[in-house]
Amino acid sequence: MLNDEELLGIDKNSGFATRVLILSFPAGSIFLLLAIFDVLSIPLAIYSYISILFFNVIFLMPISSELQQIKKYISKLSSGATEEELLNNITEKETKNLITAINSMHKFWSTKAETLENRTLSDAAVLDTLPYPLFMVSKLGLIIGANLSARTLFQEDINGVDFTTIINNDKFKISLSKILDGLSRKEDLTIPLANVKNKPKFYIQISTLPWFAKGDIVAVVSFYDLTKALQLEKLHQDFVANASHELRTPLSVISGFIETLQTSAKDDEVAREKFLHIMQEQTFFMSSLIENLLSLSKIELTVDTPPTDKINVNNLIKEIKSALELKLKEKDLTIKTKLARTSQITADQHQITQVLQNLMDNATKYAFPSTQISIQTQKVNAIPPHRYYDIKEGDAIRIDIENNSTTIPKEDLERLTERFYRLQSHKNQNIKGTGLGLAIVSQIIKRHRGNMTVQSENNITTFSIYLPISQ
Ligand SMILES: Nc1ncnc2c1ncn2[C@@H]1O[C@H](COP(=O)(O)OP(=O)(O)OP(=O)(O)O)[C@@H](O)[C@H]1O
Ligand SMILES: [Mg+2]
Repeated sequence: MLNDEELLGIDKNSGFATRVLILSFPAGSIFLLLAIFDVLSIPLAIYSYISILFFNVIFLMPISSELQQIKKYISKLSSGATEEELLNNITEKETKNLITAINSMHKFWSTKAETLENRTLSDAAVLDTLPYPLFMVSKLGLIIGANLSARTLFQEDINGVDFTTIINNDKFKISLSKILDGLSRKEDLTIPLANVKNKPKFYIQISTLPWFAKGDIVAVVSFYDLTKALQLEKLHQDFVANASHELRTPLSVISGFIETLQTSAKDDEVAREKFLHIMQEQTFFMSSLIENLLSLSKIELTVDTPPTDKINVNNLIKEIKSALELKLKEKDLTIKTKLARTSQITADQHQITQVLQNLMDNATKYAFPSTQISIQTQKVNAIPPHRYYDIKEGDAIRIDIENNSTTIPKEDLERLTERFYRLQSHKNQNIKGTGLGLAIVSQIIKRHRGNMTVQSENNITTFSIYLPISQ
């Protein structure tokens, strides 16, 4: 309820008396003149003037009161009072009608304001969902808006800040001023951000808003993080460099031996045999390198297609085991298997054969001589999550391949699936390999949405792979 002071009515300070006096002034002056020239007696002139004052008060009072009520009503409305509460205090019909009209106008504008406010909020929310930082800039070069990504990038309150103070880069300053001075409509540049963690490189686009945009924003600055793209580019460059390097080494060995065979060892039978054997080894290495490279690119092409073959993992293991017989004998190795009763899965037959061949070949190659390799398959009801892709939910077959070899250091474990990565200790022992076997394995497992974990402790290394039973 409104208290007495808030009741709608004539205010003491409304100037009502002054207005009545001003309105009565012409009549008063005439009565004064008439009295001066003796046309009217002084008491009659005073009486007439008072009557005029009285009538003015009678006639002006209601109008003034109504105007006062309307004025007070509007000011109460603008300060948030509810309309019904105020309307109860108004008695005059005319005023009531006028106020009803004001009410509907007020409602119209309130709804409009609410709609606009909601739209502004949802626009801001949409901008916040953008993965890249976006800034709105005023004519003076101040940041007057930034999406969530932009705010997170600088981790401070950037509203109202001069843009060139947070990006202190000459190229950026020049581009921004060109836009703000109307000399250009769009500017593109690539710069590193020195004041941001990890100093990422950004592709920045500054654009003016279209002519129909009203308000303080004159330009929009968007940032695109190039870190990932540059990393990929670097990966690609490294890959090409590594592949060429790996090919160049055996090639130069072969060409060296050819030269020796043509010159100094021309008539040396023993040396010729030895050199030809080395050359054969080198060509064998080159062809397996090329085969592995081709294999990798083929697998990459299939990565988004789910496999459809029905395969039996246990049978594959048995087949590969017999194929390895000779190598196992050479190193006096034995393979102990403990296989699950069923090992039927939906997978790519050729690719899973490659996985098992690579892992069992590694186990044979890197195991200490005269030790035992153990292979176990079992059914599990979940695949451990992978860091970079979604694994397939549900039942899976887990294959553990364990061999004795020097414990692989923790920092190396994480890098084993990198292309061309090989343990220094194995390179020193002159154990041959392209360093692509595990990269192939991990790509195939990725295509099957499975996972691979490696454990290496107390000179025992275990590779565990998980393959979904169904796709
Ligand atoms: N079972 C294992 N025991 C110990 N170390 C291993 C084992 N498997 C792999 N490694 C280490 O991981 C490195 C990478 O293995 P990967 O299979 O990718 O390449 P590679 O065996 O050297 O070459 P390729 O497979 O082409 O013959 C190996 O060089 C070796 O150092
Ligand atoms: Mg290998």
